[in-house]
Amino acid sequence: MSNEKRLAGEAALRYVEDGAIVGVGTGSTVAFFIDALAGIRDRIHGAVSSSEQSTAQLKRHGIPVLDLNSTGPLSLYVDGADECDPHKRLIKGGGAALTREKIIAEASAKFVCIIDSSKRVDLLGRFPLPIEVIPMARSLVGREIVKRGGQPVWRDGVVTDNGNWVIDVHGWQITDPVSLEAELNQIPGVVTVGLFARRAADIVLVGDKEM
Ligand code: A5P
Repeated sequence: MSNEKRLAGEAALRYVEDGAIVGVGTGSTVAFFIDALAGIRDRIHGAVSSSEQSTAQLKRHGIPVLDLNSTGPLSLYVDGADECDPHKRLIKGGGAALTREKIIAEASAKFVCIIDSSKRVDLLGRFPLPIEVIPMARSLVGREIVKRGGQPVWRDGVVTDNGNWVIDVHGWQITDPVSLEAELNQIPGVVTVGLFARRAADIVLVGDKEM
């Protein structure tokens, strides 16, 4: 699969316009994209990063990392996913970077998602759904998930870049991801739901092929 990840990371370069500030996601597939981006770093203005991990890699390549508050809307966001359905709706957050990823996706005109073929599913939910929560709300949110038929598992020992915790929800077959995303967002203490359904990807590259 790592060859497909590399191909996808390299193929995403075709969406990068000269002078752009590129939104950059997180994960092993994005790591290939960052390496490829380094090859054209003189043609771009810089990047907005979704994690400390990606920031470090961008800086190692000498790519300026900018603050989203000073850039305005972005033309392009490139990120991986843990699952992708036929409507380009995603589960993300396996790397615990979901909150910053969702912010940058929302701020970007075009979201190019780069995956290998193992990430394609007909129905979201086989991959446990990550939810970032304020630490004191962990049990409350867990009980709300149980009421809805899910099995919450605390990702013990993981603290997000924002100082929060992550719950992974097992056992959901997500038939209506837009509604579930909206409903879970209403639970106090939920920071970010790892469903990217209301703002799905615009383009999905599976290896170097567009889905
Ligand atoms: C990070 O929190 C995730 O959303 C990643 O985008 C996702 O886990 C994909 O990662 P890989 O590219 O490493 O599979």
